[in-house]
Amino acid sequence: MCGIFARIANEPVAPALIEGLRRLEYRGYDSAGIATIEQGGIERRCAVGKVDALEAVVRSGPPAGTIGIAHTRWATHGSPSERNAHPHVAPGLAIAHNGIIENHRELRHALSDRGARFRSETDSEVIPWLMHQHMANGVSAKDAMHRVGEELHGAFAIAAISENEPNVLRAYRRGSPLAVGFGEGGGVLASDPQALAGYATEAMILEDGDSAEITRDGVTLFNRTGERVQRQTLAVDPSVFACEDNPYAHHMLREIHEQPDVIARILGQYRVPADVLAMVPVDFRRVSRITLVACGTSYYAAALARRWFQEFARVPAEVAIASEFRYEAFAPPLPGELAIVISQSGETADTIGAMEVMRARGIPVIALVNQIGSTIAREADGTIPLLAGPEIGVASTKAFSAQLTVLAMLALAAGQRRNQPGIGQFHARLQKLGDMVTAALHNEPAVIAVAERIHNAHSMIYVGRGSLFPVAMEGALKLKEISYIHAEGFAAGELKHGPIALVDPQTPIIALVASGSLFEKSASNIREIAARNGRIILVGDRAALLSLSDVSTHSLTVPQGCDLLQPIVSTVPLQLLAYHVARLRGLDVDRPRNLAKSVTVE
Ligand code: G6P
Repeated sequence: MCGIFARIANEPVAPALIEGLRRLEYRGYDSAGIATIEQGGIERRCAVGKVDALEAVVRSGPPAGTIGIAHTRWATHGSPSERNAHPHVAPGLAIAHNGIIENHRELRHALSDRGARFRSETDSEVIPWLMHQHMANGVSAKDAMHRVGEELHGAFAIAAISENEPNVLRAYRRGSPLAVGFGEGGGVLASDPQALAGYATEAMILEDGDSAEITRDGVTLFNRTGERVQRQTLAVDPSVFACEDNPYAHHMLREIHEQPDVIARILGQYRVPADVLAMVPVDFRRVSRITLVACGTSYYAAALARRWFQEFARVPAEVAIASEFRYEAFAPPLPGELAIVISQSGETADTIGAMEVMRARGIPVIALVNQIGSTIAREADGTIPLLAGPEIGVASTKAFSAQLTVLAMLALAAGQRRNQPGIGQFHARLQKLGDMVTAALHNEPAVIAVAERIHNAHSMIYVGRGSLFPVAMEGALKLKEISYIHAEGFAAGELKHGPIALVDPQTPIIALVASGSLFEKSASNIREIAARNGRIILVGDRAALLSLSDVSTHSLTVPQGCDLLQPIVSTVPLQLLAYHVARLRGLDVDRPRNLAKSVTVE
């Protein structure tokens, strides 16, 4: 989604603003712009499309200002165009805005009546005009920022510069994330704390209602009543954006290959199941029902974990898509209900909304979040960090395996607390997960060979049964996200109730199988596909593949595990397949069209 970056320094900031925007590119956007103050006046440059296009505009007339704000816009109100690109201006002011202003129509009318002249179709443009009108009435820039924050409805983060105070960067936050930092060369702010890398070693995270004042001397934060405050700080990893150190062609490929390290980190940090329980204020003996809520890839992790909570902890568990769940009508909560929300970014608006619904109903919420300091991490009743490290590729990979590893630990911990048998044995098996994922990664040449055969397909079907069903859904999501090939994941047993009509020799069918109790059932479903001339690519352990070798055109081997490990291991070839198919189609793997890494609007 939209990204904000801003800088105040002792040298021209345009190069830093462009670099900052590049760091936010992964969030997804369709136009970009910067504004600086030069010889006392606001200078603005904008371009539709990638940051490269903006850079070309900036190069043809580089602004010399040493203070500036920058923005990548993911269109919501009005099409991607130069006119709608941020920063937006009013006389003497420029602002960049993330989020949505729900009452922008009323504000626009009122401001127009008072003389404002709007140039864009965006909701954001009301912000500089509101500030301008307050400042024209003698209100200080700091107070004007707070007043505007109170007048706006919705969720937003704002960065602003003003000709009145050409040596101050201002920012305000409600709902959308914002981090500020300070280093030797000056001050910096961004919507993603990691984007501060190289400019600051620590990021201060603004809370709702806070504003920031950044000068060449330092940073001051104010709370909603205007008092000075200190806020939580996060260490900024200096290496995240060091692409020159990336031996892989894309962030996504590096992140896929990082998965064994991520799993080792998690199992090193949470050595025994009780270690994850120590992070959350929940007594699983008293839990009567669990609702897992998430979006996208995180939802598929939730769908898988639902099974584990039932199997290992014997707690009824259900799963919900956050955007649907938040507007459902609910029966009164039962005693002992627990909600688990799962989010890589911790900023997904729908997941935050679902969390608020749960809390309003008096149900405790625990969160599994990768981005420490994010809204969900701060507002949940307890948070378990996913420890995946920054994930830059828009398509989630290592965060998914981190979610599953942590959820597996949590389900085992819940089982242990509820005195269920066999937990120690499963925990021992979990220790082998990293090696199994490494073995699955070694099979990449076979995945590439399959990708070369199928990358021109128009449509693909993924099927799986039991714990492999959510994996099939996630595999199909990965493919469509980055290759733009239509793909659907189905429960293998459901195929005959409709989707089997789609089977033809042109449509590759990725069939997930595993030796074990459901093998015969899955094998029958796969043979039904073969009988209708389906083009089957099997993904499974050696024994399962061998029994179905007569019906598959290709197969991808993964190590054999149990119900806990097999789904995680089986994800690896599907991630690699999506990656290589997209690469062979010449697509921008890390920044797929229309998508955003962190979806901060409903
Ligand atoms: C976006 C991303 C997906 C992600 C989903 C949920 O749609 O493109 O890759 O799975 O959001 O994100 P979260 O940060 O809440 O896990």
